[in-house]
Amino acid sequence: MAQTPVKVTVTGAAGQIGYALLFRIASGQLLGADVPVKLSLLEIPQAVKAAEGTAMELDDCAFPLLSGIEITDDADKAFDGANVALLVGAMPRKAGMERGDLLQANGGIFGPQGKAINDNAAGDIRVLVVGNPANTNALIAQQHAPDVPAERFTAMTRLDHNRALSQLAAKLQVPVTEVKKMTIWGNHSATQYPDLFHAEVGGKVAAEQVDETWLRDTFIPTVAKRGAAIIEARGASSAASAANAAIDHVFDWVNGTEWTSAAIPSDGSYGVPEGLISSFPVASRNGKWEIIQGLEIDAFSRERIDASVRELEEERAAVRELGLI
Ligand code: NAD
Ligand code: LMR
Repeated sequence: MAQTPVKVTVTGAAGQIGYALLFRIASGQLLGADVPVKLSLLEIPQAVKAAEGTAMELDDCAFPLLSGIEITDDADKAFDGANVALLVGAMPRKAGMERGDLLQANGGIFGPQGKAINDNAAGDIRVLVVGNPANTNALIAQQHAPDVPAERFTAMTRLDHNRALSQLAAKLQVPVTEVKKMTIWGNHSATQYPDLFHAEVGGKVAAEQVDETWLRDTFIPTVAKRGAAIIEARGASSAASAANAAIDHVFDWVNGTEWTSAAIPSDGSYGVPEGLISSFPVASRNGKWEIIQGLEIDAFSRERIDASVRELEEERAAVRELGLI
């Protein structure tokens, strides 16, 4: 392997998403089929042994691109020289909870990890927060990393995006590849707004190809509450689909895309207050997310985007109150 391996740090490596994610990273799906990777697994002390077991299995795959695995419960070591950080380690919600209910339990994880990233990561570090409530946890981490460019902290709404693609494709009986320009706006929560007014199928606006009642009363709540439906059905929160979305997010961030959804720090576009980590329609060019500009937002969409953004503001106020930022 001539190329220097890319160091990918995964927190919560012994958890269920970790188990679905690590093998795909090691096989080259996160960064590209010709990019060697070095894995760094961060866990809490009582889960280090389980992470070691996963590492044994990774060894047993003899992945050609995997150049090494480190396992630690020390965040400074885990993020030392990291190029990509996947912040997965956090408690999942149980049936009947909203993701925001996890703020108190999980928020405290992300300040110290943000600081460890600030102090130890490589200059090109890119961070994806998966642990819930993902947008606000990303904000907490970012606020503890003043030396890292703010836009390197992102949160995952790609799972919501993929869910929206799949629901719409099934409704219109087309392959998912026919659906273009899908957007998730706002928070990774039940207030998120999956937007069919800019999505296209067969070159035509998706909202015009479905009836309004389905869009409002079936599509939006199905996508927005899919996480809860999975918890109810599986008895555990989504894992393989979450890992898949994390792979998609980072792959597109590094390799480029013309349109997807990601929660990134707002620059004030579309009336979203600057600094909130909110989901937008984004392109990735030259390794950087850019908010797709110039979309017309009608009253129906405006109301829903505003509601989700209000929730993000409330979460930010709550973590300020808790002293987490
Ligand atoms: P899990 O309970 O199976 O695993 C979590 C792991 O994190 C555990 O192994 C735990 O030991 C570890 N952990 C806890 N605190 C840690 C810390 N400070 N440092 C390092 N590791 C730590 O949970 P899971 O199913 O893998 O889910 C992880 C998180 O991802 C949850 O918060 C869940 O809600 C969230 N999630 C987000 C999305 C999304 O779309 N954004 C999708 C699915 C799940
Ligand atoms: C999901 O969307 O599946 C995850 O955020 C897990 C959850 O709590 O819904």
